[in-house]
Amino acid sequence: MITNLSEKIYYVGVNDRRTDYFENHIEIPNGVSYNSFLIVDDKTVLIDPVEVGFTDEYLHKIRQIIGSRGIDFLIINHAEPDHSSALATVIREYPEITIVGNAKTFAPLEAFYGEIRNKKIVADGETLNIGRHELQFFTVPMVHWPESMVTYEQTTGILFSNDAFGGFGALCGGIFDDEVNASFYEDDMRRYYANIVGKVAAPTLKAIQRLGSLKIKMIAPSHGLIWRKDIAHVLENYTKWSSHQSEEGVVIVYGSMYGNTARMADIIAQGVAAAGIKEIKVYDVARTESSFIMSDIWKYKGVVIGACAHYGNMFPNMTMLVHELNEFKPQNKVFGLFGGMSWSGGGLKTLSQFAEEGKWNLVAENVEVKGAPIREDDIERLFELGRKVGEETVSR
Ligand code: FEO
Repeated sequence: MITNLSEKIYYVGVNDRRTDYFENHIEIPNGVSYNSFLIVDDKTVLIDPVEVGFTDEYLHKIRQIIGSRGIDFLIINHAEPDHSSALATVIREYPEITIVGNAKTFAPLEAFYGEIRNKKIVADGETLNIGRHELQFFTVPMVHWPESMVTYEQTTGILFSNDAFGGFGALCGGIFDDEVNASFYEDDMRRYYANIVGKVAAPTLKAIQRLGSLKIKMIAPSHGLIWRKDIAHVLENYTKWSSHQSEEGVVIVYGSMYGNTARMADIIAQGVAAAGIKEIKVYDVARTESSFIMSDIWKYKGVVIGACAHYGNMFPNMTMLVHELNEFKPQNKVFGLFGGMSWSGGGLKTLSQFAEEGKWNLVAENVEVKGAPIREDDIERLFELGRKVGEETVSR
């Protein structure tokens, strides 16, 4: 069955439930969708293709709608292969098709797929009339790559926003926010933001502000739900995340070999709770893939990180998370650090180096414990660390 966004605009996207890791490093237990759209008018237009592994299904959907008719234009809003990798197949199938992109689109596209014969370069704000529909292009650099743009269909008010406003989670039956339990997608949408878009929060906020002047009746991203009922909600979320607004709560993450650093985390959590914080998330970094932890860090104000020692350094699994923290730079956080010494020390020392490099806002005294947290003074220091971070987290 084919779903319409409007009378002549069709959804031809696909669901990916077989890829374990998006970008080969972010777990997607609920899958992901590669949304693509077909407009049938005097000209036929495809907006963003799909991932190359799904081309049979994709072409079948297109043929169901247009039969043997050709396709005039393929708009590439973004050259990243999760969207663009079906390009070569589409060109083979429709050799007369013209590929539409902006001045920055074709360098990465041709680097990935070779020379493109028929191309049309559009400027920021330029329009393309295809009959009854009028498409307008807006460049949104760095949301998510330098060549990123969005396409706005003026007569229906549909914004084809590519990565912006997207989320993880394959579409299960309904494709619109009012057809499904949208709250099911909420966490996966924030996780997508925190691990894909968060790094470019400033340009994203700029793009939201700029696109805000359009009369948007529907937001059709290239991943996840299409928003037609509660557009305000998705705009609000993206604005909140892009402007680094946090909620009251604390994320405690530990790396522990024999459970002693884990015990420290539990004492710290008690301190946080004593400060009146109800939202407390405790994660073992060896057991939870870092994208889930990053997502909660983006959400909550307080972050406490602890690692046991490992050959004078820190527990190795912690490296990925702290590297990403310094790469993505979530703002307006309060941090606390702790570590287990083992025989060498090094957990807290290495964490401190990351904290210094990332200019983390440390609000409590670092705590390092020899062996297990069984001595009263150690327990007290850990509890105080939690209490202090908790107090600094309280919304005022
Ligand atoms: Fe969904 Fe930046 O690609």
